[in-house]
Amino acid sequence: MNGISEEITTAELTSGVRIPLIGLGTWPLTGEDATGAVTQAIANGYRHIDTAENYANEAAVGEGIRRSGIERQHLFLTTKFNAQWHSRDGVREAFGQATKRLGTDYLDLFLVHWPNPAQGRFVEACEGLQGLVDDGSIRAWGVSNFKPAHLRLVQSAGLQVPLNQVQIDPEHGQPGQLAYHREHGIQTAAYSPLGRNGSFLSHPAVSGPARDLGKTPAQIVLRWHVQHGRVATPKSANHERQRENLDVFSFALTQGQLDAIDALETGTPPRLDSDTYFH
Ligand code: A2P
Repeated sequence: MNGISEEITTAELTSGVRIPLIGLGTWPLTGEDATGAVTQAIANGYRHIDTAENYANEAAVGEGIRRSGIERQHLFLTTKFNAQWHSRDGVREAFGQATKRLGTDYLDLFLVHWPNPAQGRFVEACEGLQGLVDDGSIRAWGVSNFKPAHLRLVQSAGLQVPLNQVQIDPEHGQPGQLAYHREHGIQTAAYSPLGRNGSFLSHPAVSGPARDLGKTPAQIVLRWHVQHGRVATPKSANHERQRENLDVFSFALTQGQLDAIDALETGTPPRLDSDTYFH
């Protein structure tokens, strides 16, 4: 990434597997929009693309990767699977179908998209994922939208969870969730890292540093994520916004500036409750 060392732009997920801290989110892009956004993002320097079975855009994302001409090993590709695959054999089938749609033969990261506790099979899904790591089909596994209670059950089965992708922005800071991740060595990845119409982008805690550092409010918020050690996957199909979202490694926020953004936390839970919402 513009000659900035990988030590700075990536985090270690598992031994020997590093994940770029900024990735391109692709929901709700589909078809040509998704293909074009991915090709453009790779040309803009992105090396981490985040998709999901449920976004119905894996084939379009795969096409964007092919059109970019990048060699597969230079890209970090994440996808997620739906509740119907929550069994050891099911996860293997989900892997086969996802890689076929994406036009690749391996995944860098494969996630359980939602725990779906009513179905009660997410631990089996995680065991299936560990099996895919063990046989070299995927480089790493993780989960998404898992609350501490769900994580605890997975850990009780003797599994170390490498990563949990959850909704985090300055107003949805989920401090209890993040503390649990820290305590248990789980890498946090933030989806909707810029919020949805978040009023915080114009709050002085964000707009002040933006003005002082000559950056945009979005860059300040993404820098806040990165400085807290989080992966963030902002979605944009816009050329300029893609570029600015990736350009967050050449400046730093002070502890006071980080604290002021932390203080925007409202205590509001994430938009979707993973005890009841699933797909
Ligand atoms: P756009 O796609 O027009 O760039 P999510 O990550 O939750 O899907 O939300 C992404 C939202 O944030 C989109 O509405 C996207 O708009 C917007 N966005 C992405 N990057 C920026 C940016 N640098 N500045 C302002 N808004 C942004």
